[in-house]
Amino acid sequence: MVSTRATHNILVASNRGPVSYTLDETGALTAKRGGGGLVSGLSAIGPDAGALWVCSALGDGDREAVRRGVGEDGVRMLDIDADTHEAAYNGIANSALWFVHHLLYQTPLEPVFDKEFRRQWAAYETYNHAFAEALAEEAAEGAAVLVQDYHLTLVPRMLRELRPDLRIGHFSHTPWAPPEYFRLLPDDIAAKVLGGILGADRAAFLTQRWADAFTDCCHAVLGPGIPSGTRIGVHGLGADADFLRERSHRPDVDERLAVLREQIGTAPDGSARKAIVRVDRTELSKNIVRGLLAFRELLEERPEWRERVVHVAFAYPSRQDLAVYRDYTAEVQRVADGINSQYGTPGWTPVLLNLKDDFARSLASYRLADVALVNPIRDGMNLVAKEVPVVSDDGCVLVLSREAGAYEELGEDAVVVNPYDVSGTARALHEALTMPVGERAERTKRLAAAATALPPAQWFLDQLHALDS
Ligand code: F6P
Repeated sequence: MVSTRATHNILVASNRGPVSYTLDETGALTAKRGGGGLVSGLSAIGPDAGALWVCSALGDGDREAVRRGVGEDGVRMLDIDADTHEAAYNGIANSALWFVHHLLYQTPLEPVFDKEFRRQWAAYETYNHAFAEALAEEAAEGAAVLVQDYHLTLVPRMLRELRPDLRIGHFSHTPWAPPEYFRLLPDDIAAKVLGGILGADRAAFLTQRWADAFTDCCHAVLGPGIPSGTRIGVHGLGADADFLRERSHRPDVDERLAVLREQIGTAPDGSARKAIVRVDRTELSKNIVRGLLAFRELLEERPEWRERVVHVAFAYPSRQDLAVYRDYTAEVQRVADGINSQYGTPGWTPVLLNLKDDFARSLASYRLADVALVNPIRDGMNLVAKEVPVVSDDGCVLVLSREAGAYEELGEDAVVVNPYDVSGTARALHEALTMPVGERAERTKRLAAAATALPPAQWFLDQLHALDS
């Protein structure tokens, strides 16, 4: 039976919602609104459309907000028991599923799917079920429900069972693993993940490559044909040009730009030093350490670049509850320090590493970058690759991994690398640094056009329309 709360025509479900709360020592709650594609997509629909965003309460601030009944219109936070959330989010989503899709396991030591994994899987089912129940309760007859990402792969099937009248889409923001890697997962779990998504009317991906991998996994695990008749779609999320151009010229960005210029400094001949910029979460799949090793090899093999180039590396903390992420952050710091002590001089710090998140400073670094280094092992899309060409003041050469989703749209005008090939990446950096100014400007123009072809609001609306058709 459809509940009396069932008033919403468009629903989005995701682990992380559009708003989060912090609780200070005085007990006051402060709300912080996030950005991103879904936020601008939903705001494009307008407040009267009856949209609702269902998300998890993450951390003490969010939980307290739910307890006090504090919240925003159009957002429902689910206060799922903290241990269940921890096991589902860190254990299954960010360890097992994330690692499989980003090819991060280092066999023969990993993975180990044991009793502990089964406990976490049970929590993942509970957590997905909580979302399915909330959506079933809130959705109006025939509503469209857009379920997001690897945290919620079981929701479409669970929701379909509770509410067969709904139109359900699932969107994967990650890559999808090829079958031989996906089948590292125990067979029953692999089948449940695929079967969960196949409960949707439509399963969508950021690129054709990930969509094909999903279909290949269905064939390998479940047998030929997509059994439920789920339609498969592709929506390549683009950069939000209007927002980025306006935001990157505000005073806080200008201030940070001046500071960065000062830190980068000038070469011994008085010319401005070149900047190789990267901005990432400190995430294993982003391949930050190999990027640093490539920069070191550039300085080794091409001594003419010493004192003339700086590697600006912003690596923001992520998933610090997981030891492997903490260790990786320490390794990034260790390698950067090693390069600075080996090559640095009193007037030149080769690597400017900063681990503190600052969006305005990231935009400032985009503006001055001569080269943007985007070399993930695997990435669903990688929006930094799309944002830099839009924001760049004087043109920028993109050094891009062929394993990023963005490669499909930007590959032709980037300098493309195999992310594991450190020497190849060092050569690519040299090629990028020496690219003639005219060519660099032309390429940047084409990159910016390709990067903004499907802005977030349109990306979101396209998914809704595709669900209707
Ligand atoms: O790539 C998948 C994704 O959900 C992104 O949308 C997001 O940037 C990232 O992972 C963040 O992960 P978390 O919510 O664990 O910080």
